Amino acid sequence: MASRPFIVGNWKMNGTRAMLSEARAIDRAAQRHMKVEVAIAPPYTLIHAVHREVEQIGVGAQDCHPGDEGAFTGDISAPMLADAGAKFVIVGHSERRQGHAESNDLVREKAQSALDAGMQVIMCCGEDAKTREAGEAASFVTKQLKSSLPELDNAGDILTVAYEPIWAIGTGNSATPDDIAEMHAEIRKLLVKLYGEEQGTGVRILYGGSVNPENAREILSTQEVGGALVGGASLTADSFFGIALAA
Ligand code: G3H
Repeated sequence: MASRPFIVGNWKMNGTRAMLSEARAIDRAAQRHMKVEVAIAPPYTLIHAVHREVEQIGVGAQDCHPGDEGAFTGDISAPMLADAGAKFVIVGHSERRQGHAESNDLVREKAQSALDAGMQVIMCCGEDAKTREAGEAASFVTKQLKSSLPELDNAGDILTVAYEPIWAIGTGNSATPDDIAEMHAEIRKLLVKLYGEEQGTGVRILYGGSVNPENAREILSTQEVGGALVGGASLTADSFFGIALAA
């Protein structure tokens, strides 16, 4: 597993240019705490501006179209994102899978497109409350991941997986360390099966879902947790860095 914990802020549909000051503050804090790898995924409209403002943190996108160019009104391609300064793309977030009916096949194509454009991929997965209550969380997540992940020779260098149970996102109700450890162990098993021992163990597995400065230490010290994908608490430098400092 890569040595530095990876703390990623997903700003979702939040942020105008007024938020650039938060990005600068996060960047300054990251320069003082090099033990942690920090990145943010602002909305498309801010990627280039954030990229120009920061020195230390990574900048990425929250989604991409699977094609490179063409008549796709309103969409943004991976080469455009790379050109704007994005270093990674989040794909398969449940808010895309559910709100935009994205299939595993489409998510896999998007991941491939981001990789082809020279960026890294953060692949999201996670079950809903009904699936967990039915005791099918692990089989659902492994099946979803298996169908969403592209074939790779160097997964350990270019892929991060984020486990985000849907019922924990934005609810203030994060998964327990035991549940996280159990799911991350299943995901690790799958990654090793798909990519081999060396590459499969090199992929960082992040947890996402109501991570905040108060619960971050416990979550980040859980077995097989390589960092966090943070939504709401990433919108101010103070709370986001409160999480990074707990790593
Ligand atoms: O991508 C981030 C996740 O959806 C978590 O969001 O921290 O607001 O629960 P949250």
